[in-house]
Amino acid sequence: MLKVVVLGAAAGGGFPQWNCNCDICRAGWAGNGLARPATQSSLAVSADGETWFLLNASPDIRQQIGQTPALHPREGRRHSPIGGVLLTNADVDHVAGLLTLRESQPFSLYGTGRVLGVLTANSIFNVVNPDFVQRNTIELGENTHLLLADGRPSGLSVEMFPVPGKVALWLEDESAGKNFGTVAEDTVGVKVSDGERAFFYIPGCASCPPELAERIEGADLLFFDGTTWIDDEMSATGVGHKTGQRMGHMCMSGPDGSIAAMAPLGIGRKIFIHINNTNPVHLVNSPERAEAGKDGWEIAYDGMEVEL
Ligand code: MLT
Ligand code: MN
Ligand code: ZN
Repeated sequence: MLKVVVLGAAAGGGFPQWNCNCDICRAGWAGNGLARPATQSSLAVSADGETWFLLNASPDIRQQIGQTPALHPREGRRHSPIGGVLLTNADVDHVAGLLTLRESQPFSLYGTGRVLGVLTANSIFNVVNPDFVQRNTIELGENTHLLLADGRPSGLSVEMFPVPGKVALWLEDESAGKNFGTVAEDTVGVKVSDGERAFFYIPGCASCPPELAERIEGADLLFFDGTTWIDDEMSATGVGHKTGQRMGHMCMSGPDGSIAAMAPLGIGRKIFIHINNTNPVHLVNSPERAEAGKDGWEIAYDGMEVEL
């Protein structure tokens, strides 16, 4: 059994974003049901319904735990059903939640060498005390069993693989040329399995080259980067100038978009996650949301549960 809970469906900044008054965010602020507020990008997954691994640790993690009874402490004086955290990149929206998971609580932390290196290089992450929280490096392309802090198996295994993308915004090296010093381990997708069933989680991805299409073809379930609807959405909505491509994200619509790229791949269930506040699919009655739905895409929401 694989149980997945969407802890946060929105991209960095969440929805509505604290300082944003764009048309989409205004609908979110209004609280009139036209657009559902969403916290920042994270999934929880479990093979037994008891112990959970978080895929990324969002700055909203405290609220997400509060909203998710399965993640509340259950036994003794100190306890958490969170057995571990796996990181897919070092974006603020994916690592800042680690700072909330201090208090000498044992759990396992997994990520690529590059992403874990970012934590080592920044001593604030030592509040997640390495004496209690073991940091485990995952090699790309290797099937890895996720272990709990006491060494017991979680029943979950993962394979991480590089996807087109970009180093975290706050780690960009302007002097390193067009890709800001990005290497393969900076942005990965992950295949999560309980030994029988599997799903893919790819919250940041800049394009869909043939090797990625082959990998996800025929999958039962895919959570995919839903940052923007169109590539120049930030400028079109008047809130910024960066394109989705510049931020390492492929848009949903159009000939180069994810909807077109994944249409022929025979994927059982396709769910957009990491949805930016400027993306009109946040609006329940938008034509864009209807168009994604026609192509078989669901839009993740906080608290969404999926079982395989
Ligand atoms: C992204 O997904 O591009 C980043 O989370 C952006 C950010 O750090 O705000
Ligand atoms: Mn992000
Ligand atoms: Zn906005």
